[in-house]
Amino acid sequence: MPRYWMGIDVGTGGTRALLVEEGGRVAHGFTAAHEEMTMTQPLWAEQHPDDWWRAAQEAIRGVLSAAGATGDSIQGIGFSGQMHGVTMLNASKAVVRPALIWCDQRSQAQVDWATQTAGAENVLRWTANPVLTGFTLPKFLWVRDHQPELYEQVRHLMLPKDYIRFKLCGELGADVSDASGTALFDVVERRWSTEMCAAMGIDPVILPPVYESSAVCGTVSAEAAALTGLKAGTPLVAGAGDQAASAVGNGIVEPGIVSCTLGTSGVVFAHMEQVAYDPQGRVHTFCHAVPGKWHVMGVTQGAGLSLQWFRNQLAPGVEYDTLMEEASSAPAGSQGLYWLPYLMGERTPHLDPEARGGWMGLTARHRRADLVRAIIEGVSYSQKDCLELVEQLGVKVASVRASGGGAKSPLWRQVLASILAKPVMTLATQEGSAYGAALLAMVGTGQFTSVPEACRSTIAVTATCQPDSAEPLYQRGHRVYQALYPALHSALRS
Ligand code: XUL
Repeated sequence: MPRYWMGIDVGTGGTRALLVEEGGRVAHGFTAAHEEMTMTQPLWAEQHPDDWWRAAQEAIRGVLSAAGATGDSIQGIGFSGQMHGVTMLNASKAVVRPALIWCDQRSQAQVDWATQTAGAENVLRWTANPVLTGFTLPKFLWVRDHQPELYEQVRHLMLPKDYIRFKLCGELGADVSDASGTALFDVVERRWSTEMCAAMGIDPVILPPVYESSAVCGTVSAEAAALTGLKAGTPLVAGAGDQAASAVGNGIVEPGIVSCTLGTSGVVFAHMEQVAYDPQGRVHTFCHAVPGKWHVMGVTQGAGLSLQWFRNQLAPGVEYDTLMEEASSAPAGSQGLYWLPYLMGERTPHLDPEARGGWMGLTARHRRADLVRAIIEGVSYSQKDCLELVEQLGVKVASVRASGGGAKSPLWRQVLASILAKPVMTLATQEGSAYGAALLAMVGTGQFTSVPEACRSTIAVTATCQPDSAEPLYQRGHRVYQALYPALHSALRS
């Protein structure tokens, strides 16, 4: 009987279950879609945790059936998930209300309150980051301020993937990387920040025990086994936030290699041996999924989201591959057209939930191909903003490993290489976070002795894309792009 390790990634669009064989080869994957996030007001984004659980059960059953495997072939399970979403359970461990997810930006008033109440310097000292609307704490405070009757019911606070682990094993838990994005976690000491909880009036008893990412922290319960086809007693490791898990899946677990993940959001991610943070908080400093290490990352809120929005609104029914093919017929620079990807505000470098997106430089000459190409270029310029800040923290970047849906496109990889002015590499396994989650399970169950060893043994570079002759044009283009946000943002606010 083959032996597999399972990675479960609770993404935004869906939950994916992946089976990995002993030597690290991906055997099968199965994704179950989530219901669309509900966006009843601008800046709002919610999903119901029970929909994640429905999708997780479907994905687990789906991947077992695709492999023709039974639960006893699974040696261990690891988790990865969209970060920051505030998932709230009551005393009976039932969901109190839908989660405000990572891209929900409604909580600026709570960010201001938290920063003033705790003091901006204390917040940085206690958590290594400023409080941001993207993070968990202000979302929870929004519930306190607007739905006090629900807030009163909350007895357990957790992150999306941790809800799925809880449903599988009945134990509450969090891991250090995901906990880092709550604004309630001491990233330097790798523990919940009692100081921040006290300043916020939050009883730390609602926070789950916290583990390093590869630690075993539960086993599949008999009840969950009956629902999923898994075997009761299968070990579960804590796992990691999707970015740290994706970094494990891409081998970003030692100094020198940086990744760029073009999913719904776009993230530039670097490993750090010693903790360092941007005093303005424009990049996040979080615990890594490698015990005792950290990472820094810059986030473009609307990366793949920009393209998804374009297709849904302006090219319904057209395949992404068709749009990409069209875009490759447009010239580099999109005939002077620029895309600002701020559809859900922006984190790096602007830290502005009210930033707004759009094309600038449109003329009657532009075709759909230019519009799409400008989106790809605009998202890549935003990733360049992230990379520059990461480099300013002293991280040396020789090359970039690309992953996520966007990196599947040869055009996007070429544009990215030329805009970042770095070689962009692709890996044999393009599974990112679900793969990283499975590797963490392999480490936790003793298949590998450490996360770096797991990565060295399993991850291989398959192709490298060098910057091309468009690089100088893109350097000028980046300066124009950088001038647009400051020129527009006050006008759009007034
Ligand atoms: C990271 C972040 C995104 C989400 C969704 O800070 O917000 O990676 O986790 O992918």
